[in-house]
Amino acid sequence: MSQIHVLHENAAWVEPLRVALRERDLPFAEWFLDSGTLDLIHSPPHGVFYNRMSASSHTRGHRYGPEYAAAVLAWLERHGRRVVNGGRALQLEVSKVAQYAALESHGVRTPRTVAAIGRERVVEAARGFPPPFITKHNRAGKGLGVRLFHDAEALGRYVEGVAFEPSVDGITLIQEYIEAPEPFITRVEFVGGRLLYAVRVDTSQGFELCPADACRVDDAFCPAGEGGGSLFRIVEGFDHPLVARYERVLADNDIHIAGIEFIVDCHGEAYTYDINTNTNYNSEAEAVAGAGQTGMGAIADYLGSELRGVGHIAPSAVV
Ligand SMILES: Nc1ncnc2c1ncn2[C@@H]1O[C@H](COP(=O)(O)OP(=O)(O)O)[C@@H](O)[C@H]1O
Ligand SMILES: [Mg+2]
Repeated sequence: MSQIHVLHENAAWVEPLRVALRERDLPFAEWFLDSGTLDLIHSPPHGVFYNRMSASSHTRGHRYGPEYAAAVLAWLERHGRRVVNGGRALQLEVSKVAQYAALESHGVRTPRTVAAIGRERVVEAARGFPPPFITKHNRAGKGLGVRLFHDAEALGRYVEGVAFEPSVDGITLIQEYIEAPEPFITRVEFVGGRLLYAVRVDTSQGFELCPADACRVDDAFCPAGEGGGSLFRIVEGFDHPLVARYERVLADNDIHIAGIEFIVDCHGEAYTYDINTNTNYNSEAEAVAGAGQTGMGAIADYLGSELRGVGHIAPSAVV
């Protein structure tokens, strides 16, 4: 019997998906891609494969998770398996430069960005860059390396100091700081390549903005805020010209499930700066919105329909 195979490296983030799959009686298995072996002589099992590899895997000690996942995805795709968020999606997950190239090619505006390869090039990249600017990691997630600077000298002190944390891929981005008149960003969620909902995220407390419930314990997200107000709020009836463009970006890059973030400046211009192919949802915001459908529920339904599409008894692959 074929089943849903969930490829990941973070059990905590998979828990809400497990619940949603079990509620629907959908058969699934997990592939924990930290380290392992892959014998290319074998054919993969049948079913639907959902790639949830995260760009921030190295922060959980899974340094080679993305490389391992890329190898597995290449093998699955060679055998014609149905993969949700395939190899191309993973390429974007681990590179903001690749994300910006994909967005710009569909007419989506991104913040001006310079990539510095190697620590000694970071300050050089910032010289002549109009301040204020931020640094961030090319392979990021969780707001890694996001810092605001008002001049290249301050950046120089940071880069030479002990606090500097290089991106795991050696690429630091210097990026135009988009000052929002109100401190929030919008994250637009897609499942099956279609809009699910948008969520407004309060940024007044900092840059680490993972919406996963499992991340809410971080300092930046201390749930004990006054009034219990949530940082995440689902926007009712979100309708924006960017949605159609985002859908084209996703279709063009083999991405079926994603959360895309944008920020609006004081002139009303929207800048898109992050595509999360390994997206998480905030259950508190979903409960407040009272939307019948949760993000993980939508993913489970989508995976279930894909599984029916491949058939429970798939023809055996040619080796
Ligand atoms: N160019 C920018 N201008 C202003 N704020 C930004 C910019 N880029 C990122 N941020 C802030 O930093 C957060 C993390 O940056 P992001 O690019 O999403 O990295 P990650 O992939 O680590 O989530 C964003 O959600 C936003 O609040
Ligand atoms: Mg982000």
